[in-house]
Amino acid sequence: MSQEIYLTGITTTGTPHIGNYVGAIRPGIAASKDKAKQNFYFLADLHALAKAEDPDRIARSTLEIAAAWLALGLDTDNAVFYRQSDIAEIPQLSWMLTSMTAKGLMNRAHSYKAMLQINEESGGDNPDKGITMALYTYPILMAADILMFSATKVPVGRDQKQHVEMARDIAQRFNHHYGEVLVIPEPVIDDGTALLTGLDGRKMSKSYDNTIPIFSSEKQLRKLIMKIKTNSLEPGEPKDTNGSTLFEMYKAFATPAETKAIEKRYLEGIAWGEMKQVLFEYINDHIQPARKEYQRLIDNPSDVEAALRHGAEKARAISVPYLDKIRYAVGIRNLG
Ligand code: TRP
Repeated sequence: MSQEIYLTGITTTGTPHIGNYVGAIRPGIAASKDKAKQNFYFLADLHALAKAEDPDRIARSTLEIAAAWLALGLDTDNAVFYRQSDIAEIPQLSWMLTSMTAKGLMNRAHSYKAMLQINEESGGDNPDKGITMALYTYPILMAADILMFSATKVPVGRDQKQHVEMARDIAQRFNHHYGEVLVIPEPVIDDGTALLTGLDGRKMSKSYDNTIPIFSSEKQLRKLIMKIKTNSLEPGEPKDTNGSTLFEMYKAFATPAETKAIEKRYLEGIAWGEMKQVLFEYINDHIQPARKEYQRLIDNPSDVEAALRHGAEKARAISVPYLDKIRYAVGIRNLG
């Protein structure tokens, strides 16, 4: 069995928040240091276009996400860290895959179906309202991201599992038609990673605007943590850790022993105000060392640009010759 290749993408919309941190960034950075693994991480800025976001926001988000991963210690020597749009071979491959993708497969994508349903429920007469072709064919571009680097393992959140399965389907059909050219990938869903609840009690997500940005200033971080929803139990009353957003966040950052100690304090009736202070101090101490480097990178975007270009060079050393092979397979050939 040849070496596993891990690959994952981060869409460049929004500011990186602590839900992204515990769910993707922290495990990704740990894996980037593992010499036995080959890891690809990229900024999916072409995917970001699918929702027609404000251009300045996409550019800003790209800088912030890249700076966050770098400041928090991504090993860019061992892993390949790049920007999707720097790899021109990806959209080319995407087109070839589009020719091998049944329209019916795209019709079944959960993300697309969810939009149809919203349109239906709102009672309008256009079920396709607000749905761009980029949104509709999003899974094909994602398949190209994955297949371009022959990834065998694709760590993603539960909501992206179907997309990786579609990449498998598309690759299988391609191979059936053109010969064994593409490597069939597999989704990796880590049930152990924490899913954080946001400020309002719903899942922490940029689409709900209920996040805590990783690199908030100390003042902002305190303010946001003070806003987290709790119940109305008084100081001294025993409290349940189950369903407590504060506890869940603490647990996502702290060691098991520290978490046990806090469980005891819940039983003893720790005041919510105090728990918020404890959580603030814990997260702040955890993030503090990287905060300066993050700010330095934000103030020196050319350093981030250089890191991404270096990554693109490493990536293109693979994608350029491989795309040649794929072009040949589909009949796009040098005529002599
Ligand atoms: N669609 C993914 C998300 O929203 C991001 C992504 C784009 C991705 N291309 C990918 C993830 C390829 C894994 C592999 O989270």
